[in-house]
Amino acid sequence: MKHILFVASESLPFVKTGGLADVVGSLPQALSSKNRVSVFIPLYQSVIAKLKDAKPVVTFTVNTPCINQVATILKQTHDGIDFYFLQHQGYFERDGLYGYPDDGERFSFFNLACAMFIEKVNLSVDIIHSHDWHAGMIPLLSRVVFKHHPNHKNIKHVFTIHNLAYQGQFPLSVAKDCLGLSDQIINDGSIRFDDGINFMKSAIVYAHKVTTVSPSYAQEILGLSFGERLHEVLRLRQYDLYGILNGIDTKFWDPSSDPLIKHHYDVETLDNKVKNKLELQRKCGLKPTENTLLLGVVSRLTWQKGIHLILDQMADIMGLDVQLIVLGSGEAHLEHGFRHMVEKYYGRLAYVAGYNEPLAHEIYAGCDLLLMPSLFEPCGLSQMIAMRYGTLPVVREVGGLRDSVMPYNSETQEGTGFSFKEFTTSDLYHVLRMAVYLYYHYPIEFEQTQRNAMSVDFSWALSSEQYAKVYDSL
Ligand code: ADP
Ligand code: GLC
Repeated sequence: MKHILFVASESLPFVKTGGLADVVGSLPQALSSKNRVSVFIPLYQSVIAKLKDAKPVVTFTVNTPCINQVATILKQTHDGIDFYFLQHQGYFERDGLYGYPDDGERFSFFNLACAMFIEKVNLSVDIIHSHDWHAGMIPLLSRVVFKHHPNHKNIKHVFTIHNLAYQGQFPLSVAKDCLGLSDQIINDGSIRFDDGINFMKSAIVYAHKVTTVSPSYAQEILGLSFGERLHEVLRLRQYDLYGILNGIDTKFWDPSSDPLIKHHYDVETLDNKVKNKLELQRKCGLKPTENTLLLGVVSRLTWQKGIHLILDQMADIMGLDVQLIVLGSGEAHLEHGFRHMVEKYYGRLAYVAGYNEPLAHEIYAGCDLLLMPSLFEPCGLSQMIAMRYGTLPVVREVGGLRDSVMPYNSETQEGTGFSFKEFTTSDLYHVLRMAVYLYYHYPIEFEQTQRNAMSVDFSWALSSEQYAKVYDSL
């Protein structure tokens, strides 16, 4: 049995800002029948209230030219998985997770403390599986800086790219003063990027295997358009690069038992779904009519998600006989756009800002269609969750959306959603109009498509096998 240590910046059930937390919170469970899996994350302010009987494991000092700080590691077991939390009040006990001017220093500390933790406590780790830029310096630290230590010597490294758009780029001083790296490492080309350094690049260079979260995205990032200026580095590693589609926690996301929705249903009792629609409409100030098609959006409001296509096309979308509910926060102009639209389409359009887990569940359960017109999408979980709840996704054919949504085919009656190719308002509108038409004029076909979507296996069963193969190949 191998011991695999996941290192990431967020994980359910403790802290989540996006799909990374879903994956780090659910993949270990799927792997745990054949492996021992532990998880290492920072102890953010919001995590403290969720700890029960967490015990300190070790305390040590991280010492580099600009960091001289004490790190304490706490441990708590959750559902059979050991979680290790890095405690440092100044760095992590803040209101949010990211976007602070000292992020370079904070996450240097996170990477160094993790490497030192492995050195100090013999956990017999075989594989470190680090995720996204926040843990991007771990392979370099473990394989170069700490390589002579017996606890590090034989560790193999897997790195998963969840989103190449966020790379952790910092000035050179972060490498020298915060990470304490030598001039030789800094200048050998493996971590340099523009005038500074790049955590994501370092991980791509130093990990034994690199994975990303869908087969299509694994191809897309090798090209100029989606490679985010790291495509050439990725091409050098393309024979060690794997695209493995994410799964979701199908016990947590289950319309037949979800404690956050009022009316439970499954493929056999799909008729009950509409009762959730009525609850949702009432709750959000939409006119409660079970026959009106209800569109939903559950998303970070960022350029990645193609949200402005929806805003730009709003007049035409509202010209269809539909209601729309949007949940999410993000870029100010997008939030402002929806606030403005609510005034215009009062009673037909609802906008709820913020991160709201219960409402997200109610939207997945209560809507007929979920809009996800992403510019790029490494995997995307919202569309899978929606399908599980019989809410048909309308997506752009890109990344994981392309790999998980099978477009409706009127001839064969196959399909689990609707998709369009070009990133334009007219393509989005065209396919949305078709879906709306199907809903109103061909309800039997629409319902069959909902049943198709609900019957797809989005669990980790298949994908965790693929991760196991990657681990075995090391
Ligand atoms: P990303 O990680 O790029 O944000 P994903 O689709 O992979 O996109 O994952 C998003 C996850 O976050 C899903 O579990 C989704 O339900 C959840 N989510 C997104 N926005 C919100 C929100 N405003 N409130 C609650 N949950 C949200
Ligand atoms: C990132 C991506 C999203 C993916 C998630 C989990 O946040 O934007 O597409 O589903 O990570 O891997």
